[in-house]
Amino acid sequence: MHSVFLLGFGGVGRALARQLVAARELHAARRNLRLEVVGISDSSAIIYDQHGLSDDAILGMIAQKSAGQKLSGPASQPISAIHEVVAQLPPRSIVVDTTATAQAVPVLLAAKAAGHAVVLANKLPLAGDLAWWDAITAGASRWETTCGSAMPVISTLTTLLDAGDQVHKIEGSLSGTLAYLAAQLEAGKPFGDAVREAKRLGYTEPDPRQDLGGRDAGRKALILARMLGYRIGMDEVSIESLYPASMDGLSVDEFLREVDSLNDMMARRAAELSAGGKKLRYAAVVQDGKCELKLLGADPSTKLGAIQASDSIVVFTTQHFSSNPLAVSGRGAGQ
Ligand SMILES: NC(=O)c1ccc[n+]([C@@H]2O[C@H](COP(=O)([O-])OP(=O)(O)OC[C@H]3O[C@@H](n4cnc5c(N)ncnc54)[C@H](OP(=O)(O)O)[C@@H]3O)[C@@H](O)[C@H]2O)c1
Repeated sequence: MHSVFLLGFGGVGRALARQLVAARELHAARRNLRLEVVGISDSSAIIYDQHGLSDDAILGMIAQKSAGQKLSGPASQPISAIHEVVAQLPPRSIVVDTTATAQAVPVLLAAKAAGHAVVLANKLPLAGDLAWWDAITAGASRWETTCGSAMPVISTLTTLLDAGDQVHKIEGSLSGTLAYLAAQLEAGKPFGDAVREAKRLGYTEPDPRQDLGGRDAGRKALILARMLGYRIGMDEVSIESLYPASMDGLSVDEFLREVDSLNDMMARRAAELSAGGKKLRYAAVVQDGKCELKLLGADPSTKLGAIQASDSIVVFTTQHFSSNPLAVSGRGAGQ
């Protein structure tokens, strides 16, 4: 039996809780395992019971949060009590961070110091200070869904590294939104139309600049680079933004109007990069100590060039997988 504490109860946290409840028999049959959820928190409250929350109580909290309410219940404590609660966790618990905030970092560090395991969907703690990286990734930790969502990217890289394979290069298309925009540009669509369409379809954050700036994909690439032993930070990741910094001061509506001013420049760039039948990709390249994200033209005969524009892919070129690199591809987004 392992006790599990869920830090964050948004889309991903609730999907995980649903999965934990639904997989009771599977876990018992395949692993002789029971994962007892002892606590759930959102940004304002913690529900904690060291003996474990019943599945009915968990499903009730999922319904409560899905209806837009805050977590509440008889055993509710304010989120400010989080350190006291973590200090009470049973030995060898698992703390799962599905928040999207660096405020989780002190909680994770305290959990690690107390000998608990941590599991992250949240990229921020792993893309921050190297001291956080060292502490959080030491020992029993997992961060599979930080890169490529449910695709087994992190476990594949871990397996290669554990086997002593030399990883020479990692290339990846790690943002569904940027992959969509690259495909639209390649098809000749004006950049502004493509951005507005992506927003209308719900592919972008409410402010599309958060996607166009490439920082989220940059964090994923940094996590892969750090797994290779690169001692670098976000400020050393070279990220091509698909809009100029001069547009940062605009409101979202102003940006969505003025983005058309980028149409000619982006069309020229797309034409240059896709000349000769190349496929336009917004890709991360991790190689020779450097981590870079940019628009590039991929040969259609390569794995990066051959995927469907809407899919994510990570390609590992290694000592063992050299002429035919190892690729993990598929649906790289979603809860
Ligand atoms: N969505 C995906 O497809 C996907 C895939 C892979 C990884 N991820 C990553 O998974 C994480 C969660 O994504 P999401 O879509 O579930 O986000 P979300 O819906 O915004 O959920 C975030 C949750 O964190 C809670 N929270 C915020 N500050 C907190 C704090 N200080 N202490 C405790 N809880 C706090 C929020 O509380 P409230 O409910 O009170 O606001 C909310 O429940 C993100 O880091 C994301 O990058 C997402």
